[in-house]
Amino acid sequence: MAEQSSISGHALYPGTFDPPTLGHVSIIRRAAKLFNKLTIGVANLSEKNPMLNLEQRIGLMKEIFKDHPNVDVKPFSGLLVDFARSENARIIVRGMRNITDFDYEYRMDVTNRHCLLDLETIFLLSDPETGYISSTLVKQIAKAGGDISDFVPEQVIAVLKGVK
Ligand code: COA
Repeated sequence: MAEQSSISGHALYPGTFDPPTLGHVSIIRRAAKLFNKLTIGVANLSEKNPMLNLEQRIGLMKEIFKDHPNVDVKPFSGLLVDFARSENARIIVRGMRNITDFDYEYRMDVTNRHCLLDLETIFLLSDPETGYISSTLVKQIAKAGGDISDFVPEQVIAVLKGVK
């Protein structure tokens, strides 16, 4: 019998991605095998005051996943549920690293489902190799001139150097 490689359907993977890390990359690669189509939603949230602007974060995601035909990259602002509606997608993918993430993700999932009843979030547990990585720590190391090559895709290194 042929191996079932896909849950099927269209899933969204939303995040700020400031910057994208190997943790995000790992989750996206795994999710892209599960779903027919995966849209990376890059959040345009001014309250997060990102170090990389929206165009930089979108450009990085497009470059990193250019060889993944079922992955596309789109910006979104406002509510995630409205983005899901506009994309006609009812599945959200989120990575979960630890119990601290669980608390936040639990509240986000319940709130989102309160707003959009048929929305479901699928959680993928982080790999041990990437589960400790955080965008904030990557930015701190990059600002101090440290080596971030173990934490981010190579495309991110050059862009972060440019914004120091
Ligand atoms: N491995 C390693 N690190 C990971 C990871 C993984 N698999 N998954 C997430 N992270 C880290 C990131 O590095 C980042 O680190 P930081 O805390 O140091 O910055 C952190 O987890 C989260 O960043 P990110 O993955 O980019 O997502 P986010 O939590 O910023 O995304 C939104 C949140 C955008 C999805 C959420 O705020 C949202 O939906 N906003 C829209 C408004 C809305 O609808 N609000 C109501 C929600 S109920």
